[in-house]
Amino acid sequence: MSESTHGMWSSRLMFILAVAGSAVGLGNIWRFPYVAGENGGGAFVIAYLACIFMVGVPIMIAEIALGRAGRKSPINTMQDLAAQSGAWGGWQVIGWLGAIAGFMILSFYSVIAGWSVAYLFEMASGVFVGADGDFASAQFSGFTGNVWVVVGWHSLFMLLTTFIAARGVGKGLETTVKYLMPALFVLLVLLVFWAAISSGHFVEGMSFLFAFKTDQFSGESMLIAMGQAFFTLSLGMGAIMAYGAYLPKGASIVSSAVTIAVLDTAVALLSGMVIFPIVFAHGLEPSAGPGLMFITLPLAFGQMAGGQLFGTLFFLLVSFAAITSAISMGEPAVAWLVEKVKVSRVTGAIIVGGLAWLLGLGSAFSFNIWSDVTLLPGRSFFDTMDFVSNNVILPLGGFLIGLFAGWFLDQKILAEQLEGTSEIVIKLLRVLMRIIAPVCIFVVFVMTFVG
Ligand code: PFF
Repeated sequence: MSESTHGMWSSRLMFILAVAGSAVGLGNIWRFPYVAGENGGGAFVIAYLACIFMVGVPIMIAEIALGRAGRKSPINTMQDLAAQSGAWGGWQVIGWLGAIAGFMILSFYSVIAGWSVAYLFEMASGVFVGADGDFASAQFSGFTGNVWVVVGWHSLFMLLTTFIAARGVGKGLETTVKYLMPALFVLLVLLVFWAAISSGHFVEGMSFLFAFKTDQFSGESMLIAMGQAFFTLSLGMGAIMAYGAYLPKGASIVSSAVTIAVLDTAVALLSGMVIFPIVFAHGLEPSAGPGLMFITLPLAFGQMAGGQLFGTLFFLLVSFAAITSAISMGEPAVAWLVEKVKVSRVTGAIIVGGLAWLLGLGSAFSFNIWSDVTLLPGRSFFDTMDFVSNNVILPLGGFLIGLFAGWFLDQKILAEQLEGTSEIVIKLLRVLMRIIAPVCIFVVFVMTFVG
């Protein structure tokens, strides 16, 4: 099939922006800095970079290639490709696992994205102007402690996501990412310069991010680094496979994937370079957890000249980065509903958005009325969704995708998708996809669950 029935990206550049739009999101700006902060900084960053380039990039190439070869939702693409390759039909499980992970991630992602939208208005209102650390912390706990407020913003964000998803590939997604991704990048670079000049603690922030300290880096940190690599690149759940289905023929997959990984990594590191100097300048804890972006950044903006406007703009862009990621999470399920149940795209988007909204209530409650409730031992509803989807399902999905593409897919199909790539790159890729990536994922899994 040369085109997908769901629509197509208008060019390779638009594909790169769309996948970068999916990849760059809360995972980079909100999650990466606090996760790195909780796991010892520099040692974590090294583990994370290794996971991105040795495991993430090959799996991303595999996902895009499978998607473009199948041109359908991940569930049906996997079914078709397994049949064409004479492989077991059960490989479809990759598509199903992905759809489940998509719901789980979208559900809690929408809650945090809702906070970002709320903070956009808080910044604009000027409440943070001149604020100190205590005020910023109190503001955050007061906000997340109010169940109605948190549910309200979660609902609004899910509505927006559903609306854009319903408008489809071209009019919804492509239009959004075309303008917002470059803008986000420019703003982050500006912020890094600002942090470097005005915090007075840039070196301390940098050395936290890049110095090799192992004291807080545990076996579980390795699993978290792997989970973060999958999460930040949107891998292991078919979102990139779904996007690959809309990639025009002839566009190079390998160079696109490398570009996307580099962009995504740059945004994560730049976010860390903004946040950590500010954390140290104000005597805050780098391991503050999910509140890091919502406490330290408002505080910093409150102290800088023009911070009200700049901060508003920052949270506006974080919100849009979150939206372009959120839409990709539902895409595998929406595309499947359209193909299999023959509903319209609008109905498909409403079903997916509605179910994810419902599941998201549990995460919204974790910060207030269910703050004492645990699902997995020691983990709230929110933490459980986060842990199971990012650290278990995504790496497992990535493991299966690497195995399938490397060993069970008719290799003629893969070769066709990688046409134009130099021989040596293909050889390297085969080793990474067939051996290194699956073995790394497997070892990290065994280490965590046995040790
Ligand atoms: N990559 C996104 C981020 O870093 O915020 C999160 C994400 C998007 C995960 C899409 C999974 C996904 F399918």
